[in-house]
Amino acid sequence: MISEIEDIVRRSGKRVREASGFTVSDKGTRENLVTSADVENERFLKEELLSLLPGSVFKGEEGDDVPVAKEGYTWIVDPIDGTTNFSRGIPEVGISVALMKDAKPLAGVVYNPFTDILYSAEAGKGAFKNGKPITVSNRPLEDAILFTAWCAYDKSLSAPCFEVSERLHPACNDIRRIGTAAVELCMMAEGAAELYFEIRLSPWDFAAASVVLTEAGGHICSFGGPLDYDRPCPVIAANTPGNLAYLARAVVDVFGERPYRGQAFRSSTEATFSTAWSS
Ligand code: IPD
Ligand code: CA
Ligand code: CA
Repeated sequence: MISEIEDIVRRSGKRVREASGFTVSDKGTRENLVTSADVENERFLKEELLSLLPGSVFKGEEGDDVPVAKEGYTWIVDPIDGTTNFSRGIPEVGISVALMKDAKPLAGVVYNPFTDILYSAEAGKGAFKNGKPITVSNRPLEDAILFTAWCAYDKSLSAPCFEVSERLHPACNDIRRIGTAAVELCMMAEGAAELYFEIRLSPWDFAAASVVLTEAGGHICSFGGPLDYDRPCPVIAANTPGNLAYLARAVVDVFGERPYRGQAFRSSTEATFSTAWSS
């Protein structure tokens, strides 16, 4: 099955790479873009993936946001992750396809058609970059690279996100912002970076990469519990439990008692990380 998914994603990548004359519009705020290539690629992936697995559910960013099926198979798809990059000709994008079984992640494929790099993983079977096994690095915090973002689509959350960066910067090696969460999380999986924080990612941004990163030995979660594959949530990831705990501590210190889905941010997050912090 994974090789068939890879084949579909590679074919969709060729279409994205060769797309010309696409239109660009915004989705509510001027930072949140969609192109006609995003919409066309979602249509292509939907048709191909539903015919690969008849009876499956398709959840996608551009008009197909439906709940993940509690039983059976659900695709979670971002037809172009990094649309702002794509719209400007910056070759850092990922086509992201995850397959869920009974609401749990089963497989993930992330493909950059401009670099021809494809990451893939199936639960329990390891993670791969263009067919070769990959693992996270074992770099300590002081050598770590942090991937992050400052919530471009909701600038009311930017200031505390910058504060998290300010706290991390002196403690780690440096910070990067590439502009495609799916690819950045996969770069962590291959050991190129060690930390990830974003206050609000959608399931199609992280679903496929979460399988790749976990299978590569990395750690990824949200606040107060595991990732939510049905709605946007904060995402924290790291190469080691110790680095995850450090990053989570910084995030909780900054976001303090802000309410998060009706719970105090601090208590819901500390519940998740208290074991790591106390060790
Ligand atoms: C975005 C990218 C970006 C991340 C944003 C996402 P899009 O996805 O992954 O890196 O910072 O939060 O929304 O809009 O290009 O598909
Ligand atoms: Ca995305
Ligand atoms: Ca997208």
